[in-house]
Amino acid sequence: MKENRNLAILLSGRGSNFLAIHEAVKRGDLNASICCVISNIEHAPGLARARALGLNALFLPSNGAGRIEYDRLLLETLRPYHPAVICLAGFMRILTPEFVREYKGRIVNIHPALLPAFPGLHAQRQALEYGVKISGCTVHLVDEGVDTGPILLQKAVDVRDEDTEESLSTRILEQEHQIYWRAIALVLDGNIQREGRRIIARPQ
Ligand code: GRF
Repeated sequence: MKENRNLAILLSGRGSNFLAIHEAVKRGDLNASICCVISNIEHAPGLARARALGLNALFLPSNGAGRIEYDRLLLETLRPYHPAVICLAGFMRILTPEFVREYKGRIVNIHPALLPAFPGLHAQRQALEYGVKISGCTVHLVDEGVDTGPILLQKAVDVRDEDTEESLSTRILEQEHQIYWRAIALVLDGNIQREGRRIIARPQ
């Protein structure tokens, strides 16, 4: 049977991380195929880009739906696409434990700070306000908490004295685009093992 390297992308906004993943697939750096792009926001630019690229692009409205109900619908919607890995790329919802269990160890998220520092919203602003001199980005497996799952890859970014939230976010985003597809490859290739919270490369 053909190895399953299907990626489902969930997004709510701009979609630059989705596009970086798509580019990596197109270049042949990431051996994977994007089976669907799902957005809970109808006019998310990322969804429009996915549509323009001819990908399976689906709008699944979250307005008014409860978390449990919505995530069940999401599970149903994803099932026919047989995703091997689910990539959260600016998906502004917290997944239910039921959803996380179904794809345990196969959901990845990118966060614009060096976790466990500055989880949650506005991570770049949090970092600036705290006064750290180094921030960055993190790709992690998703567990039932918010930005708490085991870390796959991180990249540090210097915070400059003249930085604004916008300038810092821009430099972090460049690094996000570099590490996200590499972390996805680690999960798809299965060349990792877990020791407690630590994810380490499996000896070849
Ligand atoms: C990124 O900063 C990512 O780290 C965070 O949400 C933002 C999404 O940006 N989770 P984009 O939609 O991928 O451009």
